Amino acid sequence: MKMWSGRFRQPLDPEFEKWQRSFPYDQRLLPFELAASRAHANALGHAGVLSSEELSAIVKALEEIRRRAEDAPEFLNDPEAEDVHHFVEKQLAALIGPTGYKLHTGRSRNEQIATDLRLFVRQSSDTLQNLIADWVEAIVSRAEAAGSTSLAMPAYTHLQPAEPVLVAHWLLAYVEMFLRDASRLADCRKRANLCPLGSGAVAGATLTLNRQAMAAELGFDGPTANSIDATSDRDFAIEFVAALSLLALHLSRWAEEMILFSTPAYGFVELPELYSTGSSAMPQKKNPDLLELVRGKAARVMGCSTTLQTLVKGLPLAYNKDLQETQEPVFDASDTVIGMLPLVTGFMNTVEFNDAKMNQAAQSGFMNAWAAAAYLVERGVPSRLAHEAVGKAVALAMERGCDLQKLPLADLQAISSSFDADFHSCLGLTEVLALHDVPGGTAPRHVKRALQNARERAKLLR
Ligand code: ARG
Repeated sequence: MKMWSGRFRQPLDPEFEKWQRSFPYDQRLLPFELAASRAHANALGHAGVLSSEELSAIVKALEEIRRRAEDAPEFLNDPEAEDVHHFVEKQLAALIGPTGYKLHTGRSRNEQIATDLRLFVRQSSDTLQNLIADWVEAIVSRAEAAGSTSLAMPAYTHLQPAEPVLVAHWLLAYVEMFLRDASRLADCRKRANLCPLGSGAVAGATLTLNRQAMAAELGFDGPTANSIDATSDRDFAIEFVAALSLLALHLSRWAEEMILFSTPAYGFVELPELYSTGSSAMPQKKNPDLLELVRGKAARVMGCSTTLQTLVKGLPLAYNKDLQETQEPVFDASDTVIGMLPLVTGFMNTVEFNDAKMNQAAQSGFMNAWAAAAYLVERGVPSRLAHEAVGKAVALAMERGCDLQKLPLADLQAISSSFDADFHSCLGLTEVLALHDVPGGTAPRHVKRALQNARERAKLLR
């Protein structure tokens, strides 16, 4: 039996009937639907709408449905079920007869789908928190290893070599991004964790149900405050997927840097064979497929975020069937990110850094020029004039095809009389790194502290 056929004289157009069903994808909400249905049944029991025999028959049947779906996925092959709510009602009626039809007393699918989706987002957030913890810990471990040897590399602005930094400092930049992503998800989980049950179709349940008890049974922090809002808003889902799209965006930037650094032009990174593929045509190739797919999948997650926002932006209150379309982007974004995180973690654990190349690159390309200017400033030269003088020294060194360190003192003094015999000793990698002596900077003593701090914050994700 349909859930709404009484007032209709004609059956649905068969094409339309098939097309409007959400069961092919919302069946993954079954565990949440069953849990929420049990909470509703208990509330009906307390309200005296179900006898204790009816209640126990319904609760047992809900459990039986869960067991059957787990044992045999074919159980879910039901071409007539319109959605997961209809499926459960049909199965209840098949198992316990007309008593099964009593479960829907005083409730609406509008509150059910809102509840199921919130439970999905909550569970998915918890899975993601653990996966992000693994990922962040993998980055921190690599940063610790690189930090203990003071391994350096160029930092770029405009993709031009800018200043040397510790490799640990570079990796910790990603740690910050992913820790923020984790905190965004945790924040979103808090707002999502309220229970719409009892909201009815739009105006509230038509029975005095104990909403507090239903919320508590499902592990929610409490009931939602307004039935119109609870049945029609999906901002918890929009927020969740927006947080995922930022996470995917961060993964994509990381992937792009790893791709770049694995090219022969940089040679900083050796791609792990475990996560690379060859070319069917060119025998010499090792391609960064994992990284490229991470970059590609970020576009997909962002697409889900755009879809969700666009779906809701023009909807009048309250429930509209358009909202059924919010399910798949939520599932897709969640599956996509949950699929990526263990792989990038594996990649991070196995990728090799070419220490020699990185260190060498950190010491070329005039990346000590700012340190050279700082030397002059230290001697009282105004910063703008020091910048100008070192610029001239760089031009001279370029002309001669040498580094700043190789310029004779006499030539330097012709540019500025403030250059002195100790100038050259300020330009080594160690000195240049140590110059950035602020919290958040790349001076080794600050990076050491930042590493400890990152390790502690990563632990808190567990
Ligand atoms: N399958 C529907 C959805 O996902 C359930 C809610 C249906 N509500 C309704 N009034 N037709 O949105």
